[in-house]
Amino acid sequence: MFKTLLVAVDGSLISRQALEEALGVARAMQASMHAVHVIQTDVYPAMIPGSFEPPDIARQAVLDSLEREADEILADTERQAAAVGIHITLHKRLGHPGAEITALAKELAADLTVVGSHGRGRLDRLFLGSVSSYVVDNARSTVMVVRARPTAQDRER
Ligand SMILES: Nc1ncnc2c1ncn2[C@@H]1O[C@H](COP(=O)(O)OP(=O)(O)OP(=O)(O)O)[C@@H](O)[C@H]1O
Ligand SMILES: [Mg+2]
Repeated sequence: MFKTLLVAVDGSLISRQALEEALGVARAMQASMHAVHVIQTDVYPAMIPGSFEPPDIARQAVLDSLEREADEILADTERQAAAVGIHITLHKRLGHPGAEITALAKELAADLTVVGSHGRGRLDRLFLGSVSSYVVDNARSTVMVVRARPTAQDRER
């Protein structure tokens, strides 16, 4: 039995599918449900300490827009859970997605961490995305990796 589930959401279609699967598991197990979105700071050179320092105002503008996007992703997550009658606790973190997801899973003593196989990167890759592979390698909990459902186009191939 899983009692506490953590699902990682990045706003991609696959992460919505991962959330849907996680909600199904939470319902079946009567588990408590948490979702996390990590504002990824390491991809923006402006936010890496020691790198070229843009004016504070530019840095703040980037951060503000990432914050807004994060809030939208989490609001969407809440709506998707509410639509199936499940209460979900939302978490917003800043930093390296994989590290933040696994650290939060530990804090919550989550016994299942759910990620999509891919995210907003290229969909047609064979290997897992960098965040999902980090979570598989580093989480202490059991990890569920949700694969994208094949589209009609994929099925024709
Ligand atoms: N910033 C994030 N915050 C929370 N969860 C995330 C974040 N980024 C990715 N994830 C989770 O990890 C899953 C896989 O995404 P990942 O980023 O590993 O793949 P990708 O975007 O296709 O590849 P990459 O980022 O390595 O180019 C997503 O479906 C989501 O569950
Ligand atoms: Mg990604």
